[in-house]
Amino acid sequence: MNRRKFFFLSSSTAGAILLSQCSSATTKQAQSEKLRLSSRRLSSQGGQLDIALNAGYGDINLAGRQAQLYSYNGQVPGPVLEAQPGDSVRIQFSNNLPEATNLHYHGLHVSPTGNADNVFLEIPSGEQLTYEFTIPQNHPAGTFWYHPHLHGLVAKQVSWGMGGLFIVRGELDQIPEIEAAQEELLVIQDFGLDSGGQVITPHPMEQMHGREGQLITINGKVNPTLSIPSGGLLRLRIANASPSRFYRLSLEEHPFYLIATEGGSISEPVEQQELLLTPGQRVEVLVPGEREPGEYRLLNQPYNRGSMGMMGGGMMGRGMMGRGMMGRGRMGRGQTNDSGNVEVLATLRYNGQVEPLPLPKRLIPVDALPEPETTRRFTFSHGMAPGQGMVFLINGKTFDHQRIDTQVQLNTVEDWELVNTGMMDHPIHLHTNHFQVIDRNGQPEPYRAWRDTVLVPVGGTVRIRVRFTDFPGKTVYHCHILDHEDLGMMGTIEMLS
Ligand code: C2O
Ligand code: CU
Ligand code: CU
Repeated sequence: MNRRKFFFLSSSTAGAILLSQCSSATTKQAQSEKLRLSSRRLSSQGGQLDIALNAGYGDINLAGRQAQLYSYNGQVPGPVLEAQPGDSVRIQFSNNLPEATNLHYHGLHVSPTGNADNVFLEIPSGEQLTYEFTIPQNHPAGTFWYHPHLHGLVAKQVSWGMGGLFIVRGELDQIPEIEAAQEELLVIQDFGLDSGGQVITPHPMEQMHGREGQLITINGKVNPTLSIPSGGLLRLRIANASPSRFYRLSLEEHPFYLIATEGGSISEPVEQQELLLTPGQRVEVLVPGEREPGEYRLLNQPYNRGSMGMMGGGMMGRGMMGRGMMGRGRMGRGQTNDSGNVEVLATLRYNGQVEPLPLPKRLIPVDALPEPETTRRFTFSHGMAPGQGMVFLINGKTFDHQRIDTQVQLNTVEDWELVNTGMMDHPIHLHTNHFQVIDRNGQPEPYRAWRDTVLVPVGGTVRIRVRFTDFPGKTVYHCHILDHEDLGMMGTIEMLS
């Protein structure tokens, strides 16, 4: 990174520190910092994905330094699991963490019961469990991911490094233009580390806002390099695997052509200048190499997701405002992305030349769902509970795994109105079944897409439509700011056959 760009970007001291860190990392490592996660790929063979995953705690090389993290198979991010529709999956999971954990397969349409995608399982420290499920024959191709889901520990364990991609390859991957594109996987994580490489325990106020770390990595690296030949086509699968941070991505002088959202392909590519990725969300985009050869930065633009600070004189007593929120308090540190800095997450470098590759015109059709049989309303808010402090609520209640909040009938269609009456944005996620966004604040969604997570901004109402299919049983929906989920913003849903 040259000096001009460096100064252009340092709009504050915090930004300057961040950027001086990544500029030194860039010059040293630019050559070797390839993004590739392919060496970490564990793929299915003959219809079987049969692997061992070991959750452990120890030294990890992260962005050129040692950090003490939680990981899967000693890797941050974890290995890339890859399967096809119809495959059976068998994961021999060992928990070598000093605490309990479990696994969730975020976005997969598989059974939420038994030893499948069951978030109510708890695997104590030192124990093992074999997860087993089948990916349906008609499962969409897409970019999914796995991470721990033990209520109360999710934000911690994800912020300590746990998470990995789960890719289902299918129809979308067979479209010739997409097959010809060069695929790169981008897992974005953030870490709050002290000088010894230990993860910093967030202040309670930071937790309420949703913890954010100052070190942002893609595939465990700071500002890695992606290369593209002139005329080439890059296919990026991007996952936000951070506990709370939003990423508002743009690539200098290059639009993104969106081809897939969380639930897989959209009907045709949609040109976007920016991609807003909330925690839990994934996108797939195509980037044509059609600019002057050179280097272009993948930037993270500021985004204000609301804050506890806004609650100052309101629901919070003055007594709770204290030092933590003021001055150099941790609250301030936790909001860098809210405070106007642009950060460089990766660099795209032109390298070589190929015959220009075209963009696909059509992808996989996304059919409209029929009109709903039932409409429900979910209100997301927060408040004070005696003896508990701040709690996060859905329809006025905090999570209770023994209570059934929502009962639905398999093979019916429902509309859910998601209403945010709080002071912070909430990205809302539903397990097991994908949904379509119908409208946001009454504005019809511009294109149809399958999703599993949708942003419900402060004061906003989002209407989603979902058909419950295939799998009876109990699972959850929740805010994917994982601290909010751990602090109660989660409900249970039972799907009845
Ligand atoms: Cu990504 Cu319920 O989780
Ligand atoms: Cu999930
Ligand atoms: Cu939230």
